Order: sequence, then C-alpha cells, then structure tokens
Amino acid sequence: MGSKQALIDKAESNLYKTYNRFPVVFDHGEGVYLYDTEGQEYLDFGAGIAVMGLGYNDPEFSGALKAQVDKLLHTSNLFYNEPAVEAGEKLLKASNMDRVFFTNSGTEAIEGALKIAKKYASDRGIHNHEIIAMNHSFHGRSLGALSVTGNDHYQEPFKPLIPGIKFADFNNLDSVKALVNSRTCAIIMETVQGEGGIYPATEEFLKGVKALCDENDVLLILDEIQCGMGRTGNMFAWQKYGVKPDVMTVAKALGNGVPIGAFLASGKAATAMGPGDHGTTYGGNPFVTAAASKVLDIFESRNLTEHAKEMGNYLEKKLLELTDQYDMVTSQRGIGLIQGLEFSIPVSSIVSQALLEEKLVLISAGTNVIRFVPPLVIGKKDVDEMIKRLKTVLDHQS
Ligand SMILES: Cc1ncc(COP(=O)(O)O)c(C=O)c1O
Repeated sequence: MGSKQALIDKAESNLYKTYNRFPVVFDHGEGVYLYDTEGQEYLDFGAGIAVMGLGYNDPEFSGALKAQVDKLLHTSNLFYNEPAVEAGEKLLKASNMDRVFFTNSGTEAIEGALKIAKKYASDRGIHNHEIIAMNHSFHGRSLGALSVTGNDHYQEPFKPLIPGIKFADFNNLDSVKALVNSRTCAIIMETVQGEGGIYPATEEFLKGVKALCDENDVLLILDEIQCGMGRTGNMFAWQKYGVKPDVMTVAKALGNGVPIGAFLASGKAATAMGPGDHGTTYGGNPFVTAAASKVLDIFESRNLTEHAKEMGNYLEKKLLELTDQYDMVTSQRGIGLIQGLEFSIPVSSIVSQALLEEKLVLISAGTNVIRFVPPLVIGKKDVDEMIKRLKTVLDHQS
C-alpha cells in the first residue's frame, strides 16, 4: 500500500475525523507485543482499550475463528445457532445471571440495559422514568449511552439527549439517595470507573446502592464492559464485592477483538422484555459467539482470572513504587489488571513519548491519569519491562 506516510495521509483524507491518531500503523501482534509496518516491536499495556485479554495471535483462539469462518458466519436471529447457545450458557454460568442478549458493542449492551429498566418500570405503570447515573462515568457514544455518560464535554453538542437522567457522585451514597424518587427506574454505574480515571467503587457505596435499589424496586445496572472478564481478578468485578446486579453489561474482552457485547439480566429483570421489545441483525451471530465461546473456554482451561489477580498484585506494587520515586506521580488506584497512575501534570506527552520513543503502548484515562489495562496473559517480566520503559520516559520529563 506504499509508504507509512502515504497510508496516514490517505486515512486523514478519507476516514471521518473523530480521532487524533498517533502516527503509528500496526501490522500484526504476538502475545503482548505489537509490530508496526516497519517491523518495530511495541510492548502493549493498552490491549486495544482493554479488549485483547488473551493477547495477540493466540493459536487456540485463532483456530476456533478460522473453523467457524469455514462453517457459518451469519444467519440472523430468526433462527437458532449452536455457538450462541453455547456462549450464552457459559456466560450465564460464569456470572450466575439468568438471561443473556448478545449485542455488537458495549454501547449497544448499555442501550439494551436501559431498555430493560424502562420496560420494567412501564409494566408497573411508572411513566416519565428517571435513571440515576454517575458523574465522570463512561458508557458509550450512542444517544442513549451518551445520556448516562457523566461528561459534559461529550454530551453538550448533542443535547437534548434522552430525558430523565440525573447524575450523582460516584462513591457518595448520600448523593444517590437524594435523587431517588417514585419515577426512578434504574441506577447505572461502572463497578470500576474506567475512562473517568480508574476509580473502583467502594464496598460501602456498592452495597449501599444495591440496598437502595432493592428497597425502592429500582434496577441496579453494573457496567462491566471495561472492568469485567477477569481483569480485576474476579470474572466480573462485582463478584469481589458480593453485590449481584439486576442487569450487567459486558463487551471488549468478551470477543478478544471480535466485536461482541452482551447484556445479562437476573431475577425480575430477566423477564422484563419480551418478543418484539428488542432486536439486532448481527448480534449473537455464529461467528462472534464462536469467538466468545472460545474466550470463555480459555479463561477456564488456563485459569486466566487467577493469573490476572497474581499479575495485578505485582503490577500494583510496581506502580505504587513509582508514587514514591517521582514527585509528578501523585497516586495509584485500581484492582488487578485495571490500574491507574495519577500525575500532577497532563499525561498526553508522557503517553506519546512512551509510544514513539520507548515503544510502549499506554493509554490515558482523563487528562492526568495513565491507565494500565494490559492483556491478561502478561508475565512479571512484561511488567518489569514496562516499568523500565516508563521510568525512562519519566526521567526525561522530570
Ligand atoms: C465502561 C464502558 N462502557 C461502555 C463502553 C462502550 O463500549 P463500546 O466502545 O464497545 O461501544 C466503554 C468503552 O470504552 C466502556 O469503557
């Protein structure tokens, strides 16, 4: 396709410009490393924004995809297909939820979750529903998901969004309590806020919100799109807290790069929607669910969640050391392999220097936080190598 610069120029003139991309063209990947078109190797602690849990080019995973490509890609939801039923069964077993609906993305999983809450309320004669969401949350870019995303900058140009959304402060139970009324149909939050800067829910907060939901017959929706799928050392982050949601959303690492999401419901939420209430053409097709099914098999056979816990402890320890070693590193937060380092300065130049000079892929979360969401298959040597490269960058900055 010609030189790297020619490709970048073509992208800049053809692709809709909603991103400011880094001047890197990735070509292939292996394990926790990515390779660009010029053959340079990058250590990846971003995993395509918490997607590539199994890392790149896993032979067992690729083999399952290839087999399904040769067999059947798509039929529509007018018919049954084996991979969807199998993936669904495995996901329900891992979560102890009752029903699952497969979507094409995280955002669409959020849309479905919000529709369950609205339908559940409508069926009880409640109209003009209200939903409580959290400040500094992120749930996606479609109009419904954006409506519950607590970020003025993302919302402002697209207003009016869906009505009846109120924002509380994450980890402040009183601020949630103050917003609950007879029209509230759901409280939605990430179990660990990702884009907002890697803030785990406190146990007191999550348990308090769950109790509030139960007392008021309000559905608790937990967004596990970024923090779920083993990243925290539990398959789903809420399992660590012992707080089961009425509805949960997953995506990202569920497909390990194949676009699939899901919303899952339990108890009263599991029967809120019926035939005709929701649908999708692609969602749950045999190709994407074969991917999810294999991902779930590999999690079990390789005990990946336990590995993520062990590596997460190691990563956390190493990041904490940086808070002592560098004045500009002000704090460390996170659970397992979803970690954040907060800086006293904007991190954009650190992230781009790490990428371009040290060949280390890192991503930011907000202005001042670097987010660490590596493939779950990392080893201690990868953590050590990442820290070494990051220190080189920080030494240049200070
Ligand atoms: C917590 C959370 N929810 C929802 C989404 C939206 O998912 P998607 O980009 O797959 O639509 C994201 C994406 O970053 C996310 O982190």
